[in-house]
Amino acid sequence: MVHTKKYIFMALITLSSALIILYFFAKTRNLGILSLVPVPVMLIGWFYGMKPAVTVALFFALFTVFSSTAIIHGETKQYLYIGSVMSGASFVLIGFIVGKLKDLTEQKKAAVTRIRSLANDLKRSNLELEQFAYIASHDLLEPLRMVSNYVQLLEKRNKDKLDSDSKEFIGFAVDGAKRMKRLIDDLLTHSRVSTKGRPFEPVECEKVFEAAIKNLEFAIQDKKANVTHDPLPRVTADEGQLVQLFQNLIGNAIKFCKERAPEVHVSAVRQKRSSMDRQGGMIAEIRTRNDEFDWLFSVRDNGIGIAPMYFERIFKIFQRLHAREEYDGTGIGLAVCMKIVERHGGRIWVESKEGEGAVFLFTIPEK
Ligand SMILES: Nc1ncnc2c1ncn2[C@@H]1O[C@H](COP(=O)(O)OP(=O)(O)OP(=O)(O)O)[C@@H](O)[C@H]1O
Ligand SMILES: [Mg+2]
Repeated sequence: MVHTKKYIFMALITLSSALIILYFFAKTRNLGILSLVPVPVMLIGWFYGMKPAVTVALFFALFTVFSSTAIIHGETKQYLYIGSVMSGASFVLIGFIVGKLKDLTEQKKAAVTRIRSLANDLKRSNLELEQFAYIASHDLLEPLRMVSNYVQLLEKRNKDKLDSDSKEFIGFAVDGAKRMKRLIDDLLTHSRVSTKGRPFEPVECEKVFEAAIKNLEFAIQDKKANVTHDPLPRVTADEGQLVQLFQNLIGNAIKFCKERAPEVHVSAVRQKRSSMDRQGGMIAEIRTRNDEFDWLFSVRDNGIGIAPMYFERIFKIFQRLHAREEYDGTGIGLAVCMKIVERHGGRIWVESKEGEGAVFLFTIPEK
């Protein structure tokens, strides 16, 4: 239907232009020839990338408009001349604009294709890495268990024959194997965030808080920590992962506290998703819709604090700021937190001053 209309329109224009040209031919041969001046110029429009059919239709349309003016104004030579030149010039201009727009569209299309292909490559390589980490860590556990068990068996069987040095060396070997097991377990936890995540469902965060506290019971009693919270909302999330997130952050708040009893407070506020947000000490611009809300959670402590230069580093896997003898750990906890928050479509960052406690903040989209 649209095509038929287009062809009728083009035919009408062509016909009227042909009539005008004939009219000028009949009047005077010279003026008739003059009216054909735009024809070679229209080739320029073509050259710049207009479709042939569009170029021809446009030529006749413009010619009709300009040369009609000549007839209306008493078919004077000037009007016809101006009409011819103007329709020719319009072609160059329109052809040029169309050509440029076409170039831009093609450039944009190419860029979008390139970005899509890069994103796919990245996704695939991330997935492969996840799989690799998962399989490698899973398969590493078995030989490790074997080494540890046989060394311990060796110690048991030769208890009376071993001197104190040998016993100490066996102790180091067993300790090393234990540490390695912990690293592998943590690595597995890290890769499981995306490979073994469960579907999101409504979750009461107060229940999540209680579960995390229960898992941290020993550390809380040991350090005489006081962990409190404001009313916490219901969100749509993977409950197991939220428990892990709360547990890692509260666990850190208790662990990285020296010379006083840890005071930890968890709270949450509902807020419109902001267009500017702090991320690891940087201001990042985020495009948002007006009706989108997040829950902003914070875990505040009175511990040793963190210098701003480490705000981003601590969220990377295996990055720790202290020796193992000072504070135990593998440096995976916060990397897991970041993966969990990102899987939920939120962000996580820290605000702190060295020696003045720290606040870990993260968002979870309301829907
Ligand atoms: N609440 C905190 N106060 C001060 N420093 C912290 C706090 N939380 C984390 N950090 C710093 O960030 C580093 C990384 O934390 P992360 O939880 O990833 O590792 P970890 O606690 O050392 O080990 P893991 O959690 O794997 O047992 C810590 O080693 C510590 O230096
Ligand atoms: Mg930790």
